[in-house]
Amino acid sequence: MQFDVVTIFPDFFRSILECGLVKRAQAGGQLRVALHDLRDFAEDRHRTVDDRPFGGGPGMVFKPRPLFRAVEAIKSDEPEAAIPIILLSPQGRLLRQPVVEELSRRRRVVLICGRYEGVDERVAENLATDELSIGDYVLSGGEVAAAVVMESVARLLPGVVGNEESVEQDSFGLDGISGREAGSGLLDCPHYTRPADFRGMTVPEVLLSGDHEEVRRWRRRRALEKTWRKRPELLAGLDLNKEDLRLLDEIKQASLPVLSREG
Ligand code: ADE
Repeated sequence: MQFDVVTIFPDFFRSILECGLVKRAQAGGQLRVALHDLRDFAEDRHRTVDDRPFGGGPGMVFKPRPLFRAVEAIKSDEPEAAIPIILLSPQGRLLRQPVVEELSRRRRVVLICGRYEGVDERVAENLATDELSIGDYVLSGGEVAAAVVMESVARLLPGVVGNEESVEQDSFGLDGISGREAGSGLLDCPHYTRPADFRGMTVPEVLLSGDHEEVRRWRRRRALEKTWRKRPELLAGLDLNKEDLRLLDEIKQASLPVLSREG
């Protein structure tokens, strides 16, 4: 898979491209990342990419021409291909795991990093095929968001994460939040490693028991409990089986305040 990133800060991406999983994905041939400096597509000797907004107001707006020229250059080697052109912006649809999965099945994706106060609306309307936001907050540019997209997608590419199982068992893993298979869409259960007793903080006994069925049940219960406590709205979209519903009931009962006798 290839990402083409259009940015005025190509250097911003050096660290993510040269570390950890994204580096491994490139070394393994599963991922290619091409950085395109937007200023290379400006047409004046000052390499201007922004201008004042029509109608007045503060800040600067990315001009349409350098962005259109950048994307046209990227697509020039395969003009007929249906390549998603994604504008990162706080106005886009929210990046969720099903969107990440959808992107991971594409052969090539263009990411446009907005900057300053905005991007000329003609880019969103006539150049981008999609607009994505990584959350309901405003960043000063799309670079951090583009890095989030690349890392979340890279780990889903076949062969990038050595233990495929660990991807599948992630929070939001399997078939995503909207998953129909019982077991999908929950937050992950807690994990522990050695030592079993760290400064008096001990690991749950059941994990040391060697009883695989008990461990499975405990993990399921804790995943349900975590989801119910931290992200209860996720439970509504899930198709829980009988065992899950019973566990959830127990969890809710256990959390009710105990009434005193004097009550
Ligand atoms: N650019 C500025 N804020 C953003 C956000 N929340 N998501 C994606 N791109 C952005």
